[in-house]
Amino acid sequence: MNDTESCCDSKSDEDDVSRNDVQRFYSKAAISAQDNLCCPTEYNPVELSHIPKEVLEISYGCGSPVGKAGLQEGQTMVDLGSGGGIDCFIAAKHVGKTGHVYGIDMTEEMLSIARKNSEQVVKNLGYDNIKFKQGFLENIPIEDTCVDLVTSNCVINLSTKKNEVFKEIYRILKPGGHFLISDIISEVEVPEIMKNNKELWGECVSGALTLKDFLNHARDNLFKGLHIQKDYLWKEVEGIKFYSYTIEGCKFSSDEMSIDKNSFFAIYTGPFDSVFFDGTRFQLGETVEIDKETAEIISSYSYKDQFIITN
Ligand SMILES: C[S@@+](CC[C@H](N)C(=O)[O-])C[C@H]1O[C@@H](n2cnc3c(N)ncnc32)[C@H](O)[C@@H]1O
Repeated sequence: MNDTESCCDSKSDEDDVSRNDVQRFYSKAAISAQDNLCCPTEYNPVELSHIPKEVLEISYGCGSPVGKAGLQEGQTMVDLGSGGGIDCFIAAKHVGKTGHVYGIDMTEEMLSIARKNSEQVVKNLGYDNIKFKQGFLENIPIEDTCVDLVTSNCVINLSTKKNEVFKEIYRILKPGGHFLISDIISEVEVPEIMKNNKELWGECVSGALTLKDFLNHARDNLFKGLHIQKDYLWKEVEGIKFYSYTIEGCKFSSDEMSIDKNSFFAIYTGPFDSVFFDGTRFQLGETVEIDKETAEIISSYSYKDQFIITN
């Protein structure tokens, strides 16, 4: 692992302006807890018993990805946009003293709260397996192919270069590793006027992707076995509904990927929870193996935009 603790320069191009805005937004949110920021998230209280109150007060997630990830003792997890550290501290208990947990965040104020509280968590657990590193989602300060699980809780929507983030997640995962991401998903593409609103971006609204775009980023970056859980309707802004989703994807080893090059896969992206096509049920967000003929038929129908087809 690369142990560099600081890697954030202040380079300023068009995208960095937005990232700097997000950084400023979360510096403030670290110093003074914002009750109504992001979604209310229900954690299992048992998972939180070793975590100091100060961390819980600045928890700005929209799901609880670690609890669903099936982490094993000894595994390595990276949490992107770790904030006050809540998901890292939950994971630290799951992976035990032989495991490793890395929290990545660009905001100094968030990192210093996470690091300060880490000392108490380490005392409570009786071992130290947690490290917080300063860094960007788009350039993760972790070496290639050394991570079992990547999580992120209400953060990817904040990135201005989402494809870079998926590329980086793929790079750091081991073959066979997976991501579990809780994030805000918009029912339709967010209009440009809302995207330029810095407050709405910071509040996890304007940067939200549609489900289809989220899955396309994952698919374009070679993730397979995409699985979606639609958690709840968060809120409606300017007539657009924003939902909390938890999405999982796997990095298959090259052996698994070369099993059948002639297979096709379809992912149904909504708007319904599932549809039947030619006797096959396509559940929202689940990858279904199909033959070439079915792939061609789906691709030529008027509802082809509701499917992602890959081979
Ligand atoms: C909505 S908060 C969520 C924090 C944490 N995941 C939680 O559940 O409480 C977003 C966090 O992501 C960080 N962040 C946003 N964009 C980032 C980026 N591009 N690179 C690194 N960190 C980022 C912010 O500094 C902030 O701490």
